[in-house]
Amino acid sequence: MKVLILGVNGFIGSHLVGRILRDTDWEVFGLDLGTNKVEEHLGNPRFHFVEGDVTISKEWIEYHIKKCDVVLPLVAIATPKVYVTDPLRVFELDFEENLRVVRQCVKYKKRVVFPSTSEVYGMCPDAEFDEHESPLVTGPIPMNRWIYSTSKQLLDRVIWAYGFQHGLKFTLFRPFNWMGPKLDSLNTAKEGSSRLVTQFSWNLFNGEPLNLVDGGTARRCFIDVEDAMDGLMAVLRNEGGQADGQIFNIGNPANDYSVREIAEMMIAIWKDHPFRKERGIPEGRMVETGSGEFYGKGYQDVARRTPSIKRMQQTFGFAPKVSMQDSLRKAIDFFVEEHKALEKVVETEN
Ligand code: UGA
Repeated sequence: MKVLILGVNGFIGSHLVGRILRDTDWEVFGLDLGTNKVEEHLGNPRFHFVEGDVTISKEWIEYHIKKCDVVLPLVAIATPKVYVTDPLRVFELDFEENLRVVRQCVKYKKRVVFPSTSEVYGMCPDAEFDEHESPLVTGPIPMNRWIYSTSKQLLDRVIWAYGFQHGLKFTLFRPFNWMGPKLDSLNTAKEGSSRLVTQFSWNLFNGEPLNLVDGGTARRCFIDVEDAMDGLMAVLRNEGGQADGQIFNIGNPANDYSVREIAEMMIAIWKDHPFRKERGIPEGRMVETGSGEFYGKGYQDVARRTPSIKRMQQTFGFAPKVSMQDSLRKAIDFFVEEHKALEKVVETEN
């Protein structure tokens, strides 16, 4: 099978290419702006990488859609800070660029596996969010945060409609707070615009307090990226066509924690971490911050977000295994290495 991954150097793309090369005989064609997360795979003859921008490399993309069997348009801005500060860029990239790709999949009759998001459920009141039953609840227009959710939601609906009216072969998967190595980068955390675990790691390494936005009461269910990849690979394999025309939440309802609990767990891991002791970096501490101050006034939070994973369980026997503790340790160890590498770059530049 030939797989096209647009945004292959992102968090999901980089882990996915690793899994595909390790576990299958498929070929991967990948496009991205950089290579830092896929460096280790560049020499693999089944990985064909091209450096480029999805907004510019239009001919390359169309040619490869024609050439490949399945397309994953993974390019997207996925950090809440940017939804608030640059909502138009989110719409243009996450919606407009991906719509073009989806339409070419329709034209060339190719299967599209599209990353929807847990954010489409927004402030849904259900105890567990179900792909076919739960309402999708977003906030008022002045709240920029919802542009990501609604851009993704509209594309979900467009893809569904192309399936309904034109026979497009598709699967929508919805990541629920996937975490692990390569989630964002410490450089984005430096600007305060990365997702939770990367942001807290950066704060710990720099002796800064962990910001508990609005008291840290918001809850998320986190899934280790390795468990998430088991799910995504089952979707991609699509044995017996079970994933066709389906929507799947991919998450781990067992790892349900508040932001404050995550901060406490990370502070505890950090306390005994050899890197902290070796460098004499202070132990972690927390501070409460208002969301307006932290994100800007277009931010509205999701108080809780729990996936129903019954469709993944019933269809593929999906069963996430990694505990939050183990996942956090692994992520922190990875970010420590990234931190050391960044320090080396700064030393060389100086
Ligand atoms: C994320 C992103 O929108 C997407 O990556 C994705 O679609 C989705 O969730 C997902 O991964 O399922 P969110 O979970 O709100 O949204 O993103 P985080 O930035 O990781 O924030 C999680 C919680 O931590 C929020 O309540 C936020 O306010 C809080 N937070 C974040 C803090 O209290 N302090 C920080 O320093 C950072």
